[in-house]
Amino acid sequence: MSDENCGVAELHYDGKKYELPVLRGTENELAVDISTLRKDAGLVTLDNGFGNTAACKSAITYIDGEKGILRYRGYDIEDIAKFSSFTETAYLLLYGELPTDEQRANFSQLLNRSSLIHEDMHHFFNAYPKTAHPMGILSSMVASLSAFYPVPETLTDEQEREVLANLISQIRTIAAFSYKKSVGEPIIYPSCTMRYVHNFLNMMFSSPVNDYEVDPEIARAIEIFLVLHADHEQNCSTSSVRMAGSSLANVYAVISSGIGALWGSRHGGANQAVIEMLSRIHAEKGNGSEFIKRAKDKNSNERLMGFGHRVYKQYDPRAKILKNICHKVLDRPGVNDPLFDIALRLEEAALTDDYFIERNLYPNVDFYSGLILKAAGIPQNMFTVLFTIGRMPGWLAHWREMHNDAGFRIARPRQLYTGAAKREFIPVQER
Ligand code: SDX
Repeated sequence: MSDENCGVAELHYDGKKYELPVLRGTENELAVDISTLRKDAGLVTLDNGFGNTAACKSAITYIDGEKGILRYRGYDIEDIAKFSSFTETAYLLLYGELPTDEQRANFSQLLNRSSLIHEDMHHFFNAYPKTAHPMGILSSMVASLSAFYPVPETLTDEQEREVLANLISQIRTIAAFSYKKSVGEPIIYPSCTMRYVHNFLNMMFSSPVNDYEVDPEIARAIEIFLVLHADHEQNCSTSSVRMAGSSLANVYAVISSGIGALWGSRHGGANQAVIEMLSRIHAEKGNGSEFIKRAKDKNSNERLMGFGHRVYKQYDPRAKILKNICHKVLDRPGVNDPLFDIALRLEEAALTDDYFIERNLYPNVDFYSGLILKAAGIPQNMFTVLFTIGRMPGWLAHWREMHNDAGFRIARPRQLYTGAAKREFIPVQER
C-alpha cells in the first residue's frame, strides 16, 4: 500500500551527475523525487498546468488514464456504482474502509442530524439577485458556515467528524434552499428520516401545495451520479482544496475555494456547458457537424464540451456508466429528450474524426451527466451544484488525508521568472 524506493534516476547537468530517488506506487506507477534538486543543482522543474507533476502521495483514488481504470480505495468504480450508496461511498473515501452496519447507521444518523443550517443564514438567500449563479451563492454560503460553526485550527476527532458531516449534509440543504428562493417558493426543511438523495429531491421539489413523490428510478440515477463524482484524485478543484488547506485555513473557507475552482467550464462547469451546446445544436436544427468543425478550428473559441481529459486517453469509465443510465432514464415510455439523440450522434461523429482520434479525445464525465440531471428536473444552472454535492466527500477526504500526514507542508510552487530584469526606478518628477 505504501510507496517503495526502487532505484535512482540520473540527471546530468553542467558536467555534474545528480541522483534522484525513484519511488514506486501501489499500482507500479513510478515517480522521480525532485525535492532536493534545487538545493543540490540549483534547478527547479517546469511543468505547465502540473501535467506531469505528482503534488502529493495519496491513498484515496487510483486512475489509469491509458486503460480507463478508476478505483476508490481499491474498489472498481463500476462495482461501487452498482452496489454502493452515496453515503457509503463518502464513508469509504473519508475513512479508507467500507463501514460496518453499525458504522453505516451511525454515519447516516450523523448526516441527518447535521442537515439543518443556522436559521439566521436563511436571510442571506434573500439578498442575492434572481440572476445570481447558484455556484456563487454556494461558495459564499459555505464560507459563511465558518461564522456559524466556528472551529479551531486543530480539530479533535469529534470536531472533525462533525465538520465532515456538516459539509456533506449542509451542502445539500444550501443547494435546495437556494433553488427554492430562486423560484420564489417556501423552503422545505430536511427530513431526519429520509435517505440522502430522497431528502435532497424532496427539499428541491416538494411544496406545501403539491404531493411530490420521489421517482425511484430518478433517485437511483442521481445516487449513481453522486457516487461517480465523489472523487477524482488531484483534479483542479481538489488541488485547490489541498492548496488552500495547506495554509491551515478554516475548513469551510477551504471548501469554498474548491467550489470556486469547480465552477469553470473546463472543469465541473462543463456539465452545464454541454447541455447549452446540445441545445444550441438543436435550436439550429443541425446534426452537430458544423459544431465539430468549429471545435477543431484553433481560431474559434468553441470546444466540444464534455470531451477530452487531462488524464484519460480513452473513454472515461464514468461516462460509460452515465451513458447507460441515460438509456435507462430516457428510453422509458413517454420520456424523450431530443438532446440525447444529438449527444449520441455527436459522440459517434467525434469518435470517427481524425482530429479527436489523434488527440485521444473521448467523452468525459460531463458529457452525459447533464441529460440525467435534466430528466430529474434539475435546472441547468444547478448542474455544477450537483457536481459539488457529489465531490464534497472527495475534497474532505483529501483535506483529511493531508492534515493527517505529519510531514505536510504549505503548498508553495516555484516559478520561472520571465519579467523585466533589474532596472532603475525613476521617480515621477524625473520621468
Ligand atoms: C472534469 O481533472 C479531472 O479529473 C477533472 C474531472 C473530475 O472529475 O474532477 O474529470 C472533471 O473537469 C472533466 C473535464 C470537463 N471539461 C470539458 O469537458 C471541457 C472541454 N475539454 C477541454 O477543454 C479539455 O479537454 C480539458 C480541459 C478537459 C483538458 O485539457 P488539457 O489536458 O489541458 O488538454 P489540452 O487542452 O492540452 O488538449 C490537447 C489537445 C489540444 O489540441 P492541440 O493544441 O494539441 O492541437 O486536444 C485539443 C486541444 O485543443 N482538445 C480539444 C478538446 N479538448 C482538448 N479540442 C476540441 N474539443 C475539446 N473538448
